[in-house]
Amino acid sequence: MNYIIYYDDNYRKYVEYEIGKFVELSNGVGLYSGESVIEDNKKSNIVDKEKLSSGFNNILQLMQVDTSNLTLSQLLDKSIFVRFYHKIDYVCNDIDYNVLMSILSKYESKIVSVRVVYGKDSKYKGITQTIADYLINFGYTIDVKSPNVVISIYAGDRLYLSIDLANELSSNYRAGEPHYHKEEEISRAEFKLLEAIERFKIDTKGIHNAIDLGASPGGWTHCLAKLGIFVTAVDPAQLDNKVLKMSNVEHIRQLAQDYLKNNNNRYDMIVNDMKMFGDKSAHIVCNCAGSLNNGAKVVMTIKLAEINLYEQIVRAITILSSKFNILNIKKLFHTRQEVIVYGCLKNTK
Ligand SMILES: C[S@@+](CC[C@H](N)C(=O)[O-])C[C@H]1O[C@@H](n2cnc3c(N)ncnc32)[C@H](O)[C@@H]1O
Repeated sequence: MNYIIYYDDNYRKYVEYEIGKFVELSNGVGLYSGESVIEDNKKSNIVDKEKLSSGFNNILQLMQVDTSNLTLSQLLDKSIFVRFYHKIDYVCNDIDYNVLMSILSKYESKIVSVRVVYGKDSKYKGITQTIADYLINFGYTIDVKSPNVVISIYAGDRLYLSIDLANELSSNYRAGEPHYHKEEEISRAEFKLLEAIERFKIDTKGIHNAIDLGASPGGWTHCLAKLGIFVTAVDPAQLDNKVLKMSNVEHIRQLAQDYLKNNNNRYDMIVNDMKMFGDKSAHIVCNCAGSLNNGAKVVMTIKLAEINLYEQIVRAITILSSKFNILNIKKLFHTRQEVIVYGCLKNTK
């Protein structure tokens, strides 16, 4: 099985560090066969963990991933720097509608979305509409927002096409790139948390109280408060007035370390976007573990300096995993020089 992978081009070498070699099709898009990491019996799609880098092997262990039977798609799911991928069902110069309809006929639902990513100077411009029009003629409904079946295409030198059930894809967005409408968000940072909640499918229904470390100017606090969560926003810097006025927000103008020394409140969620080295930031979050309710969720960014980038991630995750089960780590679309981690408090009883 071959895959189209999407990633942030600035972090290309870390993609290769995690998943092995791939062919770059254009900036941020690759063709991946897994050849350099699968077991020597090439018929299988099973990864040979001995062929993975030590840093990524460490991460997989810290995430408690069973690496004895890891498939290529599981590897791509776990990769921090692969933003999105889809398998390739077929490659062609032009859509053969007989083939397309025969694959589509295997699915019960006729509610589909056509998601095309165009390579530079692609000769296929307009193909999204052409396919959509064809399908509509055959009784299909095009639903971009909530389709049941998704046709994903990379239109580069050729067309690389995959058809999947929407809920089998890791992201609801074309190439894993959500483009949120700028409405009333407080800061661009707000989109990071929004994207993490969507991407990691974080269920916020049972969350009543959250603590936000490094909250200023208030994007993350705003995002959580809008969901009806009571947020304790900790940051010596100012919060945006609109956030301060929300009845379910309290602002603590202290350093997180100082506030946590004497805090007796308990929280269902801790979020942390403090601007500091990942290991220090992870220690502060772990120090808050005693103030968290069972199963509490953590979402935090690990800011990345250029030097020893992967070691920084491993160090921060090692610290965090002493108190939290690490469920996901990703370089998401709205994060710049950082990755975002999602986990939940370990049950220590
Ligand atoms: C990237 S900004 C956070 C943006 C915020 N998440 C939002 O959505 O608006 C980083 C913040 O971390 C805060 N910070 C850095 N060190 C801190 C500490 N020790 N305790 C609390 N806040 C800290 C800074 O004051 C800064 O406001």
